[in-house]
Amino acid sequence: AFVVGDNCIKCKYTDCVAVCPVDAFFEGPNFLAISPIICIDCGLCEPECPAEAIFQEDALPAEQHQYLELNAELAEIWPNITQVKTPPADADSWNGVKDKLKYIET
Ligand code: SF4
Ligand code: F3S
Repeated sequence: AFVVGDNCIKCKYTDCVAVCPVDAFFEGPNFLAISPIICIDCGLCEPECPAEAIFQEDALPAEQHQYLELNAELAEIWPNITQVKTPPADADSWNGVKDKLKYIET
């Protein structure tokens, strides 16, 4: 499956949801998660993310390994999202900030 990683937090551009053919994205307050049960590994979402936050699980950077389990867990509790929405007003200022896991809201 593909996995949403650290740089999505507080950026949440949502361009990814527009291209997913199986509606595998789930929405939290400041992060999106992909359901590994639903994802068909098509790869369409990865180049759509302006924050380059999406990885195929085998390409996930080692320091982001915890996002594999996090996506699976959060996709079970958050609502599905299929429509692009306006990102947070300060999204661009958070794009590229490292280690944002401490800011994730669930
Ligand atoms: Fe959806 Fe394809 Fe991305 Fe999986 S890889 S979340 S199926 S767009
Ligand atoms: Fe997050 Fe990128 Fe989608 S910032 S919401 S994974 S387009």
